[in-house]
Amino acid sequence: MSRVALSALVFAAVAYAQSSVPTFPATPLISFSFPHPTDAPEQVYGPDRTFVRGPQSGYNRCNSTTENQNSLCQTSFVNDITDFCLWAPQTSNSTIADTEGEEVAWCTKKGHGTRIMLDGTLQGIQVLNTPDYTMITGLIDQTKVNIQSGDAGGELDSGGQDTAGNPIGGLMYSTRFSPNNAGQIIHWTEFIGNNQFCIKICKNDGTNPEGFCQHTLDRIGLGFNCPSKYTLGGGTSAGTFEVCDSDNMIVPGIYTLPGGTTTSYAQPPESLGPIQTVPYTPVAAASSNCVTSASSALYTDLLTVSTSATPSASGSATGSAGTTKATGSGAAASGSASRSGSASGANSTGASQSGADALHMSMVATALGTLFAVAFFA
Ligand SMILES: *[C@@H]1O[C@H](CO)[C@@H](O)[C@H](O)[C@H]1NC(C)=O
Ligand SMILES: *[C@@H]1O[C@H](CO)[C@@H](O)[C@H](O)[C@H]1NC(C)=O
Ligand SMILES: *[C@@H]1O[C@H](CO)[C@@H](O)[C@H](O)[C@H]1NC(C)=O
Repeated sequence: MSRVALSALVFAAVAYAQSSVPTFPATPLISFSFPHPTDAPEQVYGPDRTFVRGPQSGYNRCNSTTENQNSLCQTSFVNDITDFCLWAPQTSNSTIADTEGEEVAWCTKKGHGTRIMLDGTLQGIQVLNTPDYTMITGLIDQTKVNIQSGDAGGELDSGGQDTAGNPIGGLMYSTRFSPNNAGQIIHWTEFIGNNQFCIKICKNDGTNPEGFCQHTLDRIGLGFNCPSKYTLGGGTSAGTFEVCDSDNMIVPGIYTLPGGTTTSYAQPPESLGPIQTVPYTPVAAASSNCVTSASSALYTDLLTVSTSATPSASGSATGSAGTTKATGSGAAASGSASRSGSASGANSTGASQSGADALHMSMVATALGTLFAVAFFA
């Protein structure tokens, strides 16, 4: 094969790789309408809906046959304090940064076709109900939902770097705004890591669902995105499980300058390094009518032992001496903090963009490798 022919072929292969696998899906996750869980397809982004990060790793049709500790259900529910799910990894000892596209639903109640949380996962919960959204924040033992000890975590949401969501194809439903029939929630966001979480669902036709559930401030964390007594470090709330009415928060990123002008904060690009300061201090919205319950009364479906046959992320060393490994995982934590700096990090758009580019490059490299092999044997 001549050099000219080869380079023409290489050029064609590159063009082919770029045109055949788009970076973004044809339809963003927030543009799909599946009004009720039974309207969901087997997969929102199946093998027939290709883009660089796709296809989806789990499925959206979840039922009694998918309700087990290996479930790959990616249809989630946030109904109330007794009945909600968190997105968390499929395999133990994972970081959120490494698995954001593949998280699955872990729920407090049976009946959703998902994994069920283990007893001891939830250590304190505050539900804040406003007319426009519900926000649940709390303290968790993140290792019980497969998150590596010490992982600073990251953000999961219905946007994602490529509009496919994190997890890819993750659907959210709730009875919060349609009490008799769980309806699809278009804008939602979850932060999880450092043994804390926040999950927020915004009313589709409420005031500013994109704003209250916005997902471009992923590197500044829970305090700014989900201000509450847990996330602002307001003391010891472990052991308290409560539901309150709340005013709407100020839309994350919006703040008032000393002169009284309202302005908004945008996350700097990750290329500028770690964020040292944010020009304002978040405050929790006023809440009232808090009702406190004992967790034992709220959560009766939690599993007491892991019935999971899920292999650990590392594959080997099944739980060898968890306690002895504590130092090791402390060291790993700093490593993973920087990695999650990038995924939880940056404006999810920028972060994921580079991931998509990397994948694109490797596909092109594979195409080139194949061509060189062809040339070699020709
Ligand atoms: C149950 O869920 C599985 C996995 O998504 C799906 O293949 C199957 O069709 C579902 N069964 C029913 C009766 O919906
Ligand atoms: C979790 O993974 C980290 C990094 O791969 C490793 O150092 C640590 O030993 C693992 N911990 C457990 C409990 O498997
Ligand atoms: C996020 O990244 C994208 C692409 O790099 C950029 O266009 C956008 O301005 C960034 N947004 C923020 C809030 O930094």
